[in-house]
Amino acid sequence: MSDFDLIVIGAGPGGYVCAIRAAQLGLRVACVEGRDTLGGTCLNVGCIPSKALLHATHMLHETQENFGKMGLIGAAPAVDWAKMQAYKADVVSGNTRGIEFLFKKNKVPWLRGWATIPAPGQVRVGDEVHAAKAIVIATGSEPAPLAGVEVDERTVVTSTGALALPAIPKSMIVIGAGVIGLEMGSVYARLGTAVTVVEYLDAITPGMDGEVAKTLQRILTKQGLKFVLGAAVQSVTKTAKGATVAYKLRKNDSEASLDAGIVLVATGRRPHTAGLGLEALGVEMGPRGTIRTDAHWQTNIPGLYAIGDCVAGPMLAHKAEDEGMAVAAILAGRAAHVDHALIPGVIYTAPEVASVGQTEEQLKAEGRAYKVGRFPFMGNARAKAVFQGEGFVKILADAATDRILGAHLIGPAAGELVHEICVAMEFGAAAEDLALTCHAHPTFSEAVREAALACGDGPIHA
Ligand code: NAI
Repeated sequence: MSDFDLIVIGAGPGGYVCAIRAAQLGLRVACVEGRDTLGGTCLNVGCIPSKALLHATHMLHETQENFGKMGLIGAAPAVDWAKMQAYKADVVSGNTRGIEFLFKKNKVPWLRGWATIPAPGQVRVGDEVHAAKAIVIATGSEPAPLAGVEVDERTVVTSTGALALPAIPKSMIVIGAGVIGLEMGSVYARLGTAVTVVEYLDAITPGMDGEVAKTLQRILTKQGLKFVLGAAVQSVTKTAKGATVAYKLRKNDSEASLDAGIVLVATGRRPHTAGLGLEALGVEMGPRGTIRTDAHWQTNIPGLYAIGDCVAGPMLAHKAEDEGMAVAAILAGRAAHVDHALIPGVIYTAPEVASVGQTEEQLKAEGRAYKVGRFPFMGNARAKAVFQGEGFVKILADAATDRILGAHLIGPAAGELVHEICVAMEFGAAAEDLALTCHAHPTFSEAVREAALACGDGPIHA
């Protein structure tokens, strides 16, 4: 038996951040991870490898679409898929090794193996049982199964298989027009794959601002993606050349099917908590397989905490990181809080989509009086100069107080621009506060200021 103040189970963005922060705050902490590398889904088979492929294929797209316009003449580069995969693998290993280095630097031992919790205050890894004053479960999520669909990660794949296909497929059906479907669909469409996205709802990106969703669908359609909306997938059957996806159109119950070489199932993820021994411990569960916790992430078992994808809230790496830091602070005797209402969401398509706070749809449903400040990137000199004038920034502010309630962006660097609005909202700022803040010219961020101006006396360049 060895003793720790804290054992964190899982070394994804929630777990490794929690462990490092706890060590920085003086706790004796260890982190258990069963994969061969640290970083969890995000670094190994999620956010990071997908960004490598999105970047590489975006560059390819730029050479095809815009190089000629700038006087850069010559044949567009050919794709060496093996080399692109090797680049992706390098990006991943650079990041996962970076976490290993940070663990050493902060003196966080990596307990290699899959953990179980045999009793409160105990963590078993292999043959060893370690005692800890506190345990944080940060075991993340896994693709949710879809009825009638068997994933083999070769022909019918989740995001994990889609990131590592042996060859660029001629055709692909993506089930689900959520974040994974649109990001991976974009990657393969840019590589020449005929991509069709089949979505259950009547719009893409559920939960996102409706105007942004419509604009994104229009832009992605121009980029070659096809969409079948309002279609409930019934089954996926493997064929000699790939697979057949059978679906029912919800508006009239008519049945149809599509064939493709590869089918990507991207219909959501579910908490990954099986095998920890939670049932035997009597841990209370919440909706959709989540672990129920109090506002300080403690479960009904004293000393047992849970964060990230396996508890309530959006399944996002940065949300897990924030919760990891907060729990570490609480265990070190400090106060901490994470406001789920101010967690930004980003889709890394081209153009990017970003949002924070409430959507117009939510404000309408609440019956709240609000005003809209909108500014198109076509009015932004920098965006136009680099052929990225599509999209807009939309800021929603309280009609009476001008306090910012939400922001929804589609356009160049939207995933970066959203953060000044996050900071403003953390400080309870009014749209006028953003509008009166000097923004350097020429930058994309001027579009944020102009949208804030549009909440008041109006923008200058639209
Ligand atoms: P998602 O929840 O974003 O989208 C799933 C989509 O599948 C929805 O539009 C849903 O209506 C649709 N769907 C469900 N059942 C269906 C059926 N039978 N037929 C057709 N469509 C169906 O889930 P996704 O894209 O799998 O992502 C999983 C998680 O990973 C999300 O929580 C997401 O936030 C996170 N993620 C975040 C990223 C980012 O922040 N950039 C990137 C990738 C994933």
